[in-house]
Amino acid sequence: MTKNENASDMTTARRALGSTGPTVFPLGLGCMGMSALYGEADRAESIATIHAYLEATPAGTDALLDTGDFYGMGHNELLINEALRTAPTAARERALTSVKFGALRTVEGGFTGYDGRPEAVKNFLAYSLQRLGRDHIDIYRIARVDPDVPIEETVGAIAEAVAAGHVRHIGLSEVGADTLRRAAAVAPISDLQIEYSLISRGIEDEILPAARELGIGITAYGVLSRGLISGHFTRDRALAPGDFRGMSPRFQGDNLDRNLDLVDALRKVAEGKGASVAQTAVAWVLAQGPRRGADLVPLVGARRRDRLAEALGAMAVSLDAADLAAIEEAVPAGAAAGERYPAAQMAHLDSEH
Ligand SMILES: NC(=O)c1ccc[n+]([C@@H]2O[C@H](COP(=O)([O-])OP(=O)(O)OC[C@H]3O[C@@H](n4cnc5c(N)ncnc54)[C@H](OP(=O)(O)O)[C@@H]3O)[C@@H](O)[C@H]2O)c1
Repeated sequence: MTKNENASDMTTARRALGSTGPTVFPLGLGCMGMSALYGEADRAESIATIHAYLEATPAGTDALLDTGDFYGMGHNELLINEALRTAPTAARERALTSVKFGALRTVEGGFTGYDGRPEAVKNFLAYSLQRLGRDHIDIYRIARVDPDVPIEETVGAIAEAVAAGHVRHIGLSEVGADTLRRAAAVAPISDLQIEYSLISRGIEDEILPAARELGIGITAYGVLSRGLISGHFTRDRALAPGDFRGMSPRFQGDNLDRNLDLVDALRKVAEGKGASVAQTAVAWVLAQGPRRGADLVPLVGARRRDRLAEALGAMAVSLDAADLAAIEEAVPAGAAAGERYPAAQMAHLDSEH
């Protein structure tokens, strides 16, 4: 038995993304896995999952759909377009889009770099608006800093798109405290999207306090560490070719064994709370917002309605200080085995420099 999975009973709480960003439902839906990186996804089920998420968001509250133009090379934006076109009007009107751009891809699916030049920003934006079928994007951000283009220029180009009405808010992704400060000096920044979970706590020392000081919210991704700490991942799970997890250090050999031992310890705490492992992991991230004085919205990467219902149930899991301590004893900070990305991708993370 897991916590309340009935959307209609959930809290109507909202969270503000920083001092200048939108106020949204406390859980965002990350749509990446519906198009890319986690093996085959079922299109009809993906669209049904987006509809279920919009329906679960109470009237009067905005729902956050996160995507990237490079997730399946436009596939994910076209999927969101279809989901929004086929959603009931009231549900569609709740949807806010958060879009990442800048990644350069190959036909074979490779990543060859990032382009943050102002003329590239405007080009990416024009294509995204067309694919999404919308006249604006709610939050627009470069996925990774382009090392050849000062962040001021990239953010300045998005600020021009805000002035033109094509973008509502400017976000950032995987940047460190210095870049946060430089970007915030150019234009208001709504939120920093960055990996944060029980087993990826690197933002706590510098980045989270800097964001808080600057009035920038956090949209936390990988809160289930791509399924690793969801309670559903098994040692013998076969991954499709091209599944990111087949290359991720945390999912390999001994690292996987050690990380799943942490999940077993977390499961014991979850059982004591009458919650699932995934709900406990998401609830822990939700609890870090108020606890650390930060505006923090976890993105869950559900691509099926049953997984979404489970994740939404995290909002009904209340964790007191003793619960948080028990969770952090089961999964101590820094206990994860393996880096969160393969070495070549770690090199692109401004947040890790
Ligand atoms: N800014 C960035 O650099 C960046 C990077 C990565 C992602 N993101 C964004 O963040 C979003 C979330 O990232 P993520 O998908 O890696 O995060 P996640 O929520 O940690 O992992 C999602 C995966 O966990 C598994 N899972 C098992 N139980 C689940 C449950 N109850 N609810 C949800 N998922 C469950 C699913 O895999 P199975 O279906 O295979 O079981 C699912 O695909 C992405 O969709 C994307 O929008 C941003």
